[in-house]
Amino acid sequence: MRIFLTGATGYIGSAVLDALLRAGNDVTALVRDPEKAERVARRGVTPIVGELAKPVSYLAAAEGAEAIIHTAYEYSKRGPEVDRQAIDTLLGVASRRTVAGQPACFVYTSGIWVLGDTPTPATESSPLRPISLVDWRPRHERLVLDAALAGVRTVVLRPGIVYGGARGIIGDLLKQGANGLVRVVGDGKNRWPCVYDRDLADLYVRVTTQTDASGVFHANDEADEQVNDIVDAIARHARTKADVRHVPIEEARAKMGPYADALALDQVVRSPRAHALGWAPSLHSVAGNVARLLEEFRTSREAA
Ligand SMILES: NC(=O)c1ccc[n+]([C@@H]2O[C@H](COP(=O)([O-])OP(=O)(O)OC[C@H]3O[C@@H](n4cnc5c(N)ncnc54)[C@H](OP(=O)(O)O)[C@@H]3O)[C@@H](O)[C@H]2O)c1
Repeated sequence: MRIFLTGATGYIGSAVLDALLRAGNDVTALVRDPEKAERVARRGVTPIVGELAKPVSYLAAAEGAEAIIHTAYEYSKRGPEVDRQAIDTLLGVASRRTVAGQPACFVYTSGIWVLGDTPTPATESSPLRPISLVDWRPRHERLVLDAALAGVRTVVLRPGIVYGGARGIIGDLLKQGANGLVRVVGDGKNRWPCVYDRDLADLYVRVTTQTDASGVFHANDEADEQVNDIVDAIARHARTKADVRHVPIEEARAKMGPYADALALDQVVRSPRAHALGWAPSLHSVAGNVARLLEEFRTSREAA
């Protein structure tokens, strides 16, 4: 399949790129840094050096694709605005291709924080109660899902907290463990829905290439792990046993703003629509795989 991918150098996007290439797809990727573009090109990908906020830099490349996967996100004040601009551009491409009778599909990356606190299991059809950090995100999801009313195949993928390699929230905890002190926001009894990066990437390939897939898909390993279980396992496995410090939510908020509330969410999430596509995660918990994850963490850091 001819696929246009944004965020190919990111945590999620690089795992998705690996999986797309393994499955034999022809990938064109938007990359904003020429050096990173060269790295991507060495892997047989066509890089387009451009910028999400400048649609003219990638519009033509996206127009040639049978599927568009958007994983890029600019972590800045203008992040939501840039994301909206990218959706308008890429969804527009998919809509025009659909009208012209050409194969088209748009896969949008959201996240499970739009569900808010959910101590009872939430599925893909559960109501949204986003925390303030992502209160803009349901509107973007809606834009993508509403395009399906006009016949465009669209997917909203909501990954759990990603683990694997050296990046992301779990990567940060592994790094803190290596440095001897792991910080937890709140009492740590809250549960995080997590997903292994390669399993997540496998789901991206499935929703993109299974041409009857559309709508919302959750992606998590359904381990319902308490944050304390994750950090205790990390602290135990660190080369020198690490300490764990619970930071009161008010103190965490003062330091990191609304991000603290995301880390304090108690979420139990299910992914029935993903399983219905034949998706079966290979890893089922962070705590149960810490030795392996530490190994991956060290290897990824050495390679960086
Ligand atoms: N990681 C998680 O646990 C997780 C869980 C659920 C949902 N999500 C969502 O998934 C999305 C991606 O997250 P991530 O963890 O993969 O982030 P990430 O590692 O920071 O990757 C972001 C990607 O976007 C690219 N990018 C940023 N600004 C850009 C711009 N202006 N123009 C073009 N490319 C740009 C980055 O390129 P550079 O390499 O040049 O920086 C990078 O490839 C976000 O929407 C996030 O909320 C993440």
